Amino acid sequence: MKKLKKPIFLTFICGLICFISCASKIVSESSSKLSLGTHFKDLFYLGAAINENTILGLDPKSATIVNSEYNTISPENSLKWMFIQPSPNKFNFKAADKYVEMGLKNNMYIVGHALVWHNQLADFMQNLENSAETRAHVENHINTLVSRYKGKIDAWDVVNEAFEEDGSLRASVFYKNMGKNYIEEVFRKTEKVDPDVDLIYNDYNLYKPKKRAAVLEMVKKFKANGTKINGVGVQAHWDLKSPSIEEIEQIILDVHAAGVYVSFTELDISVLPNPWEMVGAEVTQNFSQFEGDPKMNPYPNGLPDNIQEKLAKRYQEIFNVFVKHSDKINRVTFWGVMDKHSWLNDWPIKGRTNYPLLFDRNYNPKPAYKSVLEVNTDQQN
Ligand code: XIL
Repeated sequence: MKKLKKPIFLTFICGLICFISCASKIVSESSSKLSLGTHFKDLFYLGAAINENTILGLDPKSATIVNSEYNTISPENSLKWMFIQPSPNKFNFKAADKYVEMGLKNNMYIVGHALVWHNQLADFMQNLENSAETRAHVENHINTLVSRYKGKIDAWDVVNEAFEEDGSLRASVFYKNMGKNYIEEVFRKTEKVDPDVDLIYNDYNLYKPKKRAAVLEMVKKFKANGTKINGVGVQAHWDLKSPSIEEIEQIILDVHAAGVYVSFTELDISVLPNPWEMVGAEVTQNFSQFEGDPKMNPYPNGLPDNIQEKLAKRYQEIFNVFVKHSDKINRVTFWGVMDKHSWLNDWPIKGRTNYPLLFDRNYNPKPAYKSVLEVNTDQQN
């Protein structure tokens, strides 16, 4: 079910690395190490979301990490509706074109994120009331983007975050104006424009049984109706404790049983306090009353060793379960390249210092990087 884009290319790179390592008498420890992407290359794609600075060449250090460590990219913001079509039929392709160009140049598995989403939507879409008008805009958006990057983008997040926690459909402008079958309608529209691209439904909190059940009901309905869907994207904005490894495993098993693959599309692990036990990733959530509160921002000058170790261990446990079920997983993507640029420094409280990724604020690999690279890739189910 999973397709690896250019296994021959990756095998060649791997072979080349081995050759160089063996041939050289002075092999330093770091140059003999495999990259993260290469380490998992036979199991799933591994990658990162990249921001506009990286795409436009303004952050060459991030680009170097992405190109040397990963084999898939996602656009953190550049393909979202508010940026790419800010006003009716006025498209801004500058960053998106560069993004796709970067992926092609480096032989990456290229993800499009996201066609239909209630957040980061252009203003003109927010308050539409007319269904024909809404449909026309959605159709134009899909036609324009999907055809422009046809044969280049490998997978689209077609719809993002359409379900509420109780499994009901979110009352978005799309739902209100296009009706309860709008998700299936936009999947069909996307397939029509590019029949070969993978189509993903993406959401957060899928470790919660009610929400997951609703998404998987939808998948089964699509299958019964002959509507194409390739995978479920699990956002994976998690923390040091939640969700449990058992809960993560259950997501993989259930999505696979519904007949599609799993992609972990937005992995990051927050290490900061979450006293309100909020889960998920609703981007408009904002606890401004806690801004500047030192209790909410305990590590402004660096992560203590014991937390650093907890993070490394947590990442290793998560990747162990990914490896165990890698036959059901297409891709694992970190939501960002390095800690300083992570959206979790500002969400859900602005101005904190978070440490959710594998590379630190100086672009150096963290203990979590090493612990992921040490995961035994032979323990597949
Ligand atoms: C986030 C970006 O990382 C931020 O830069 C932006 O301000 C808000 O959106 N779920 C998603 C992603 O699907 O698109 C969101 O990305 C994080 C939550």
